[in-house]
Amino acid sequence: MTQGAWWAVALREQVPVEKTLAVVCEGMDIVLFRDARGAVHALEDRCPHRRVLLSDGVVLPGGLQCPYHGWTFDGASGRCTDIPNLRRDETIPAKYKAQAFPVEELNGFIHVWLGPGEPAGALPSADYLPGQRERFGHAVVAISRRHYLDIMLDGPQHLLAFPGVQITDFFMGDARREHGHLVLDRGAIWRGRGPGPAFVRDHPLVLRTRVPQAAGAITVELLTAQELPLVTVRIAASSHRRGTIAICWRGYCHAGASVQEPWRVRLRRAICPYVRAPFTVHTQIDGAAIAALPVAPSLERRRGGIAGLSGMGAGDLHADSPACQAR
Ligand code: FES
Repeated sequence: MTQGAWWAVALREQVPVEKTLAVVCEGMDIVLFRDARGAVHALEDRCPHRRVLLSDGVVLPGGLQCPYHGWTFDGASGRCTDIPNLRRDETIPAKYKAQAFPVEELNGFIHVWLGPGEPAGALPSADYLPGQRERFGHAVVAISRRHYLDIMLDGPQHLLAFPGVQITDFFMGDARREHGHLVLDRGAIWRGRGPGPAFVRDHPLVLRTRVPQAAGAITVELLTAQELPLVTVRIAASSHRRGTIAICWRGYCHAGASVQEPWRVRLRRAICPYVRAPFTVHTQIDGAAIAALPVAPSLERRRGGIAGLSGMGAGDLHADSPACQAR
């Protein structure tokens, strides 16, 4: 990693007050914990004394207490603030310190800055402003980060679904670069009975996918043909161990979206709880289906990624390396 980056590693709901959460990001074991005032902190998930997991420890007013010998570490600085049974004339050496990471919580996502340099740049969730019927979740998925991003361009219907909507294979123009993302529009139609037509002349809906070329989050938008937003989904994907990824997501319906839906979609939502959710993120991926996908749009992302190598995360360069995981 030649420069640092913000990574969205967890959701707000995964870290309750005075609880810990172990994650692994870019090969680094990290413990997140929320203090009694509600602030989130991130430390290396290894006690500097005997390397046991701090995530098994207890959140105290003074920081996170190691479960083994009870040393306590300040969440903001990592400094050891308490050692049980220390004599009155002894002080705690400054080198007794856990590695602390910059943390920012925004719009329901918890971000950690990894790598060299001072934290800078926009957070992956900076422009995520939830609306109606928000849904969120997290999972570990059996695919590398690089391939997950590629499939979001080549075949997003294998990664998520919108009730009553059929995502087609028809691109609406070429992929374009915007603010470190590759953006691609494809046509979508309201689903009727059966599998839907193989070809339609007009697409009443557009599925817009914004896929980062380095660190960052994916945005998927379902729009009308007139670009009126219906549903927005933000997915943060981070490389995990053994060729898998950890994903966490949030998404919502825009005001007035239901007015755009055909009556049969609204009726199904009224009578069936399953379709009340405005979208579903798949946590099981059909290997045979994604292996059969053409790779054209994702080739563009890889070209851009190689050109912009300095901004890439290790997870992009070594897709199967241990990286970001919620355990
Ligand atoms: S191993 Fe953590 S205090 Fe000893």
